[in-house]
Amino acid sequence: MTRLPAIEVTVYPYECDAYGHLNEAAWLLLFERARWEALARGPGADFFGRHGVWPAVRRAVVDYHKPAFPGDVLAIDIHLEDLGRTSITLTQHAVRTADGTLLAEAHLVFVMIDGEGRPMPVPEVVAEVFGGRGPALPGTAAFPVGEVTLAADVRGDGPALLFIHGFPLDRSLWAHQVAALAGWRRIAPDLRGLGASQVLETGYSMAAYADDLARLLDRLEIRRAVVAGLSMGGYVAFEMLRRHRDRVAGLILMDTRAEADGAEARAAREQMIALARAEGVREVAERMLPRLVGRSTQQTQPHLVEQVREMMARAPLPGVVGALGAMRDRADATPLLPEIAVPTLVVVGQEDEMTPPATARALTEAIPSAAMTVIPGAGHLAPLEAPTAVTRVCAEFLEAMREGVA
Ligand code: MLT
Repeated sequence: MTRLPAIEVTVYPYECDAYGHLNEAAWLLLFERARWEALARGPGADFFGRHGVWPAVRRAVVDYHKPAFPGDVLAIDIHLEDLGRTSITLTQHAVRTADGTLLAEAHLVFVMIDGEGRPMPVPEVVAEVFGGRGPALPGTAAFPVGEVTLAADVRGDGPALLFIHGFPLDRSLWAHQVAALAGWRRIAPDLRGLGASQVLETGYSMAAYADDLARLLDRLEIRRAVVAGLSMGGYVAFEMLRRHRDRVAGLILMDTRAEADGAEARAAREQMIALARAEGVREVAERMLPRLVGRSTQQTQPHLVEQVREMMARAPLPGVVGALGAMRDRADATPLLPEIAVPTLVVVGQEDEMTPPATARALTEAIPSAAMTVIPGAGHLAPLEAPTAVTRVCAEFLEAMREGVA
């Protein structure tokens, strides 16, 4: 699968405003420059012309997280966020190379048009050049870990930090943290059956997920990692504690809970499984979406709501059914909590309806080594909804415990 390289650009004084900040229109030019440069260094700047197709921008949304100043060197990546019939959505992250801070990100929808300006289906070669279906960040690779092969982003050097996504999501949930947490070896896999990892018809359980991740650490020759899990990712983190405790150097438990499913929750899992089988994963996504993203995000970040909808809708059916069964059958992790001796940070979105702040507080109080942070304006998917705030609290926690991760 072809990947376009991340491009480094330097910010010049003439692109900045009276306060010395990179101007917002100049940001768009830098994103565009990085796209063309990536093409020029990859398949050629004449790539679209050669294939009789032209990408017309239909929508451009830029999130400006932090200012850039003259002299800053920015690494701008590019990956395919969504692939429609005649359109593609690209995401670009701009990270300051000096300290790994994510400064801005662009989400761009392009419609493919032919020589007469009519929309045309996205040629396979175009989808391929942006990394094909599924999210792709630089550093993505396939790792055989026993009976399955996992897709994972592995970036940076330093002590290891393993990110585990929730349900029915994929590793792109952590894209901002993976881009920004410089000084750590960031590892963001897709769990078996989800994202771009191998899909099996059966064989899904918390134990299988946890064993896959321990094997992934083996393959990367990592003895211990800080484990960050969101929601179902937190359930997997607890299972890693149960089965592979010596591999866990610290914990970031985000928007998650320790209790197992009660009778009502188990029945709801059965209904979801039936719904997924009868009406497809997109229907599961529609049912879940209103409770996954917070009120504020629904009002102010419609493109993010769309991104989450598409992330869920492209999850493979066996992986979704398997994960629902694995969550239904998971063991209660509350007996483990008093024994947790590694540094632990509990993070929760203030507007999280699925695992609300009260749940996070109870979790924090049960773990002797835990501290808790509430993220304002975020729901259940805090790393995506409030990326800068989540990255900052993670960075502070990680810095304080860096020495302990050998
Ligand atoms: C998740 O966000 O990972 C799941 O919704 C958690 C759950 O359903 O228990």
